[in-house]
Amino acid sequence: MNSLDQIVIQAQADFAEAEDAAALENAKAKYLGKTGQITEQMKGLGKLAPEDRKVQGAIINVAKEKIEAALNARREALADAQMQARLNAEAIDVTLPGRGRSKGGIHPVMRTWERIEAIFRSVGFDVADGPEIENDWTNFTALNSPENHPARSMQDTFYIEGNDTQGKPLLLRTHTSPMQVRYARMHKPPIKVIAPGRTYRVDSDATHSPMFHQVEGLWIDENISFADLKGVYLNFVQAFFETDDLQVRFRPSYFPFTEPSAEIDIVFGSGPLKGRWLEVSGAGQVHPTVVRNFGLDPEKYIGFAFGSGLERLTMLRYGINDLRLFYEGDLRFLKQFN
Ligand code: PHE
Repeated sequence: MNSLDQIVIQAQADFAEAEDAAALENAKAKYLGKTGQITEQMKGLGKLAPEDRKVQGAIINVAKEKIEAALNARREALADAQMQARLNAEAIDVTLPGRGRSKGGIHPVMRTWERIEAIFRSVGFDVADGPEIENDWTNFTALNSPENHPARSMQDTFYIEGNDTQGKPLLLRTHTSPMQVRYARMHKPPIKVIAPGRTYRVDSDATHSPMFHQVEGLWIDENISFADLKGVYLNFVQAFFETDDLQVRFRPSYFPFTEPSAEIDIVFGSGPLKGRWLEVSGAGQVHPTVVRNFGLDPEKYIGFAFGSGLERLTMLRYGINDLRLFYEGDLRFLKQFN
């Protein structure tokens, strides 16, 4: 075996040993690089006689081609192996169950909101929506709350930077009652409306949240009485809680915008809450001053209003004992209502 054959065999062995592209290029340099063994052989041709040079050149070329062929074969083998490794690593297990697209659900308080709208619409009430940022007049003054009423103090109310057109601070409405005024001033009697929405107070514990929901109810006509209020409200809670085995009672109370005023309590005749009187709403006959602020004559028009907490109704309906659960966004809680 001549030395060129040995070089070829050595090169093939070196290439076969190269584990990756970088190692292969290093091995290549040993033979085909500037100072590689084949290159050195070529350089040696210059010293030979012209006729020998031709013969020897051809022999070297054959060896060089063999080395190049071995190099290319190894390059391809390494590239194939790399591709195969990648395919294995990125293999998709088509038998795995899909991730799916989970269905969203309606928040329990929104569910209550929608149910309340449906129930009141079914007995002829309009549904109105209004601003959560209110002015002082509509939230307080028009509702017969004197300037120094405690509900106006900074402790109870979120004020907004900037004033209304009368120079009074804007605030987040503390109840939905301003909607009585807004709606009544835009509609002619008979006025029969509910206004559900978000309300705000500086208050936070297991049964109070700084943001909560109320539904306001208002019915004004020439002869609307407490009996109508009782009938409407009893019908509402019986529909809402899906039972006729439920009574309401009125407890004397005070609100500046109603006279007389009452708290509405309900009691279930069966079920886990059986026999316990539960407060669910403020209510009352709309105060004559407020009727006047509606732009109506209190000698002619009379009626009732109520304001109920949506969280409270939702908690009673589903047996929830901590209001904060509504706002934590915990899917373990929320999923139970889907
Ligand atoms: N606005 C009262 C409150 O937030 C509830 C209420 C509404 C009372 C209408 C009477 C009439 O507590």
